[in-house]
Amino acid sequence: MLTREENELLTRVGPGTPAGELLRRYWMPVGYVEELADQPTKFVRIMGEDLVLFKNKGGHIGLLADHCSHRGASLLYGRVEERGIACAYHGWLYDTDGNVLECPAEPAGSQFHRTVKHVAYPVREFIGMYWAYLGPLPAPEIPRYDVWVRKDGRRTLELQPQLDANWLQPMENSADPAHLQILHQTLANGGRVPPSTTRGFTDDVMSLEFFEFDFGLMKRRTYKNGKVDHHPLLFPNILRQGDATQIRVPIDDTHTQIYFVHFEPTEDGAIVEDEGLPPLSYTAPYKSPPDALHPFTRFDMTLDVQSQDHMAWETQGPIYDRTTERLATSDRGVVMLREMLLREIEGVQQGRDPKCLMRDPQHPMIDTNLSEGLAEIAARRGQRRSREAVAANR
Ligand code: FES
Ligand SMILES: [Fe+2]
Repeated sequence: MLTREENELLTRVGPGTPAGELLRRYWMPVGYVEELADQPTKFVRIMGEDLVLFKNKGGHIGLLADHCSHRGASLLYGRVEERGIACAYHGWLYDTDGNVLECPAEPAGSQFHRTVKHVAYPVREFIGMYWAYLGPLPAPEIPRYDVWVRKDGRRTLELQPQLDANWLQPMENSADPAHLQILHQTLANGGRVPPSTTRGFTDDVMSLEFFEFDFGLMKRRTYKNGKVDHHPLLFPNILRQGDATQIRVPIDDTHTQIYFVHFEPTEDGAIVEDEGLPPLSYTAPYKSPPDALHPFTRFDMTLDVQSQDHMAWETQGPIYDRTTERLATSDRGVVMLREMLLREIEGVQQGRDPKCLMRDPQHPMIDTNLSEGLAEIAARRGQRRSREAVAANR
């Protein structure tokens, strides 16, 4: 159970908030390369800040505060030019660094524009996405997680339906492996029928262990049949599970956008020299109506594992009130995550770089135990094929 103050501290993401300042130390996806192909501007809300992502005619990408510094019209409707984006209202022209290059309605020779500096953030293109950094400069590097940089395969991108809940709810779920055998009993256990719908497949599991490592929180689930799976929560806002990372980007205090990056290795381990832009898909809403909140909407629990998770995360409330929770022994991973967050928030407040902040652009690839996830998927595929072969021969 948390006090109201602790709950606020861990969940609020706006500028100047403790968790918001921690999260601003990391690069976050804000859109896809293909989104700016036909339309040069895109509205972005991230960590409570309203921004506009744009591509100027020189091909440079910028991320500026949405409201024009002049009198507040949205730069979403700005005209992109070689040098930047000109506000549609009175033509103030911004470059990607937020400098104002021109104020057309000012007298000839006026230097007024030099006195204005607009909020602007660095953007990088990486694996088919645009990433933004909203923290203090100099910006760190995007971590070279295996899912994102392995060369012996290809990536695919998937955008989840917006999660109408605070970012910490999916992250606590990623430190909570006990729910797999219960919440996902109908979908994540190979079509078996559970002995009890209450217990699900809990009795398959012998033990759950948690330990902190350099890049986050590792969970190890040991099954009674000897199988072990362990996959990490990558600090602070990524789950690495199966063949994918799920990057949970706070839109604001009560909404989260989840970006999946999947990795599929080549069958023979061959290196893919030029991957090109990874294919992108958009997942349909998990609830109907799609823009309503519990209890005025209904989740489809039959769609996939993720739809079941969205149900759990959203029905906890827009910002789960942890002052009334009753944590049990299976929640020790959740407690570890909170302690890690509190420790790193304090470190940032004291001027230190938090966990997982990479400064060296040449840092080696980071092993997130992806190989285990890929092997598991390959084994499942093999079992399915042999079942199909048996059925075909009957
Ligand atoms: S409001 Fe943008 S130039 Fe006037
Ligand atoms: Fe889940």
